[in-house]
Amino acid sequence: MRALIHKVARLGRSLYARIALVYLTSLLLLSVAVAWIAISQFNQLARELQQRMEIDLAQNLAQVMQPALRQGADSDAARDMAHHILSINPSLSLYVLDENGWVIADYGEPACGLGQQVDPEALETLLGKEPMLPVLTTSPCGDDPGIFSVAPIQHGEQRRPGYLYTDLDNAGQASMFAMLRTSSITRTLVAAGLMALLVSGIFGLVWFALLTRHFSRLTVAVQRFAEGDYGQRIVAPSDDELGRLAKAFNDMAGTIEAQLQALQETDRQRRELIANLSHDFRTPLTSLRGYAEQLLSQGSVLDAERRRTLAAILDNVDRLTRLAQQLSTLARLDADDRPLQREPFSLSELAHDIVGKFQHQARHAGVTLEAACDPELPWVDADLGLIDRVLSNLLDNALHATAAGGKVRLEAEALADGVRLAVIDNGVGIDAEELPMVTQRFYRTRSGLARGDGSGLGLSIVREICERHGTQLKIDSRVGEGTRVSLVLPYARVIEA
Ligand SMILES: Nc1ncnc2c1ncn2[C@@H]1O[C@H](COP(=O)(O)OP(=O)(O)OP(=O)(O)O)[C@@H](O)[C@H]1O
Ligand SMILES: [Mg+2]
Repeated sequence: MRALIHKVARLGRSLYARIALVYLTSLLLLSVAVAWIAISQFNQLARELQQRMEIDLAQNLAQVMQPALRQGADSDAARDMAHHILSINPSLSLYVLDENGWVIADYGEPACGLGQQVDPEALETLLGKEPMLPVLTTSPCGDDPGIFSVAPIQHGEQRRPGYLYTDLDNAGQASMFAMLRTSSITRTLVAAGLMALLVSGIFGLVWFALLTRHFSRLTVAVQRFAEGDYGQRIVAPSDDELGRLAKAFNDMAGTIEAQLQALQETDRQRRELIANLSHDFRTPLTSLRGYAEQLLSQGSVLDAERRRTLAAILDNVDRLTRLAQQLSTLARLDADDRPLQREPFSLSELAHDIVGKFQHQARHAGVTLEAACDPELPWVDADLGLIDRVLSNLLDNALHATAAGGKVRLEAEALADGVRLAVIDNGVGIDAEELPMVTQRFYRTRSGLARGDGSGLGLSIVREICERHGTQLKIDSRVGEGTRVSLVLPYARVIEA
């Protein structure tokens, strides 16, 4: 249900919905305007037709009434004659007007027109040669202009000029609304109009849907491209603006894809170079170390200054060797296509081996280094070479951070879901502010910088190795108290003693 509401809300915000809304509103407004114009014109036409048909009505009535009118417009003879006519057609209104259009006799009941004036200009227009119909004027008893028929007469014994005036609107009720109700033609026209409205509405909606579908395709392609599918291309729907947009997208995608491939190639070459260089450094560094140690062993023939120089050379060779090892591991981790070489192995054996390797460095720094692992610890499933690097980096850090007289401990403990490895020291510790940054590449803490050596790569390599193994690196530290770095490795499926 929520998904449906979400879908409808998304459709409501879509370009299609907006275009459809604007189109349907304009169509509706246009239809109302056309209907309004059509109705008023039909009304006008109906009035014109009726006035045209009955234009001679007043003339005919005047011929009948003229003898009686000579006795006076208000004479009994005139009234009798008028009542006779009105009894034949009760919907007629009959008035006698003077030459200025003032009503001097109203034969209707009630006689509401007395004292009113009909516009004499309208009377003369209708009596003129070929008048433009319909001619409208306000009747003596009416409020709105309507059609009429008029004829010149003479009234009274003095034969004064005047007009016989009759309303036609009342007689015919020929309004459009009346026609709408009763005429089959208007009904057919209304039905046809509604049908045209419906068809153009549906046609427009379908057409816009087809048009916006191309936009949707374009959007999907751009989205997929943004998500990393750089092979996305669009078939240009036509040669119009949309087609040109699709072509521009294809060109852009092609350029980006080519540039990306070039970048990937450069990156691959860089990783290969680092991997090769760090590997090729090993042999010369080892022989350099050998020669320097050989020279140092002839201590008796060397003066103190030369011995110091040789010690410094050995120190730098060590730093270079460590850097080459870190870079080699980094290059291996960066190569996503190289999977982990997982194998079951005993962590307690590995821990003791590494602690053994670091004993010399620990003794040199005056730090107690010990391994606390149960020899019966179940085997783990991990990349032995990489875990070796993890432990080496962590022990190297701990030994560097711990002053003479301090203690570094490597612990391995069996948990429900794997073996937890922890390197604990009671060294300088890491400031809480710096803690989130220590696993970033090349980040070195203030105390680390003061130490002088170190490249800031060790912990970032450890974090990446943990991530590749699907485990999390945990660092707890307090300044002045020490640091505890731990991670959990999964058990090997075949558990060996
Ligand atoms: N146990 C620790 N106690 C105190 N500071 C530490 C500890 N472990 C790491 N750090 C500090 O964290 C920073 C990052 O360590 P990292 O191992 O990444 O780099 P590094 O030791 O400087 O160089 P590298 O390990 O590449 O030779 C260093 O400045 C280091 O001093
Ligand atoms: Mg380090």
